[in-house]
Amino acid sequence: MQVLHQILLLCRPGFESECAAEMMDVASEAGFPAYINAKDGTGYATLVSAEGRDTMSLIDSIDFHALVFVRQWFACTEKINALPEKNRTDPLIFSAARIAGQLGGKFCGIELSFADTNAGKAMSRFCKAFQPHMLSALERQGLLSPDAAYRLHLFFVDSASAWIGASPVNNSARNPMGIPRLRMPDSAPSRSTLKLEEAINWFFAAADRDACFKPGMRAVDLGAAPGGWSWQLVNRGMLVTAIDNGPMDAPLMDSGLVEHLRTDAFTYKPDSKIDWLVCDMAERPLHVSRLIARWFVQKLCSGAIFNLKLPMKKRYQTVMECKHLLEQMLNDAGIGHRLRIKQLYHDREEVTACITTTKDMAA
Ligand SMILES: C[S@@+](CC[C@H](N)C(=O)[O-])C[C@H]1O[C@@H](n2cnc3c(N)ncnc32)[C@H](O)[C@@H]1O
Repeated sequence: MQVLHQILLLCRPGFESECAAEMMDVASEAGFPAYINAKDGTGYATLVSAEGRDTMSLIDSIDFHALVFVRQWFACTEKINALPEKNRTDPLIFSAARIAGQLGGKFCGIELSFADTNAGKAMSRFCKAFQPHMLSALERQGLLSPDAAYRLHLFFVDSASAWIGASPVNNSARNPMGIPRLRMPDSAPSRSTLKLEEAINWFFAAADRDACFKPGMRAVDLGAAPGGWSWQLVNRGMLVTAIDNGPMDAPLMDSGLVEHLRTDAFTYKPDSKIDWLVCDMAERPLHVSRLIARWFVQKLCSGAIFNLKLPMKKRYQTVMECKHLLEQMLNDAGIGHRLRIKQLYHDREEVTACITTTKDMAA
C-alpha cells in the first residue's frame, strides 16, 4: 500500500455528504476505485483508495478549482493516533519523511488545520503554538525548500491525533483551510458584500481583477437591497442599476453611481448589453439559473456572478441540475463561455456561480 492512500477533504460543516458525492463522482470519472468516510456536521471527510493506490495521482488528475464543495484537500496517510504529549514532533516528522520519499521531493511550507466547527476551533490555539516546532523540526531534517511543489499538511482532530499529508501548491486552496480572511468594509450596507468580494477574489486571479471590473463598466444587480453587492461594484468605479422593491442604503445612493429601480427582477431588461449581471435573490435555484441563462441568450450581459440558494435535500443534485441547465442553454445558443461554481466560505446554504464569455474576462 502507498503511504498516501487517502485524501482529507475540508468542507463547510453540514455539507460532508455533498463533498463526498462530488469526490466520488470525480474519482469514478478518473477510474479510481474509492470509498468515502464522512460524518454529518464534522466539517471534513476522507476518500480512501479501495486498492491502496497513491491518491496524489488522483489529485493531479482533478482541477481543484473546479470542485464545488471541497474547501481544501491533501493526500494523506492513515490518521496517526496517540501522539505522545511530550514529543508529538518525532512521529510526525517520521511520517513527513516517508511522504517526502513517496513524492520524491521536499515541502515548501506547512499548513496546520482543524475542522470549521466549535470542536475544531478549539484546536486553533494548539495549532498556532505547535506550528513553529514542526517547522524547525522539518528544517533540521532538511525537508523544507521554498521552491518545492508540495505543502505539508497536518489536520488535528484533537492534540493527540492527526492526519498528515501533502497537497500540490498549484492545485489546492491558497488560503489556509480554504478560508479567506476578509475585513468587513465600514461603509458597506450589508455583510453579503463579503460574498461578492470573495467571489471576485476566487474566480479571478489578482492580475486580472482590475481589467475585469473597471471604472465605467455597467452592471445590473438583481435583488440588490440594501446594496452590499452593489457597493462592491461601486467601490470599483462601476455604474450599477439596482433592481429591488426594497430600500437601498442611502450613503451608497449618494455615490451617484447607482440607479435604483423598484421592479421585478424576473421581468426587467436593460436597454443595451451590460458588462456584469450580479444576482443574490433567495429564489429557487433552477428559476434563477434559467433567468441568468436568458440574459446571455438574449445578449444582455458579458458576464455574471450569481448565488444559487440550495434546498434542504438533494443539494448536490440541485447544483448539478443548475449546471447542466446553464451549460445547455448557453451551448444551444452557441455562446462560448466558462461556468464555474463554488461554495465560498461566506456562502451558507448556497453556492456562487460565475459565467464569463469573452477572452478578457476569462480568469
Ligand atoms: C439576500 S437579499 C440581497 C442582499 C444584497 N445582495 C446585499 O448585498 O445587500 C435578497 C433581495 O432580493 C430581493 N428580491 C427577491 N425576489 C425579487 C424579485 N423577484 N425582484 C426583485 N427583487 C427581489 C429581496 O427584496 C431582497 O432585498
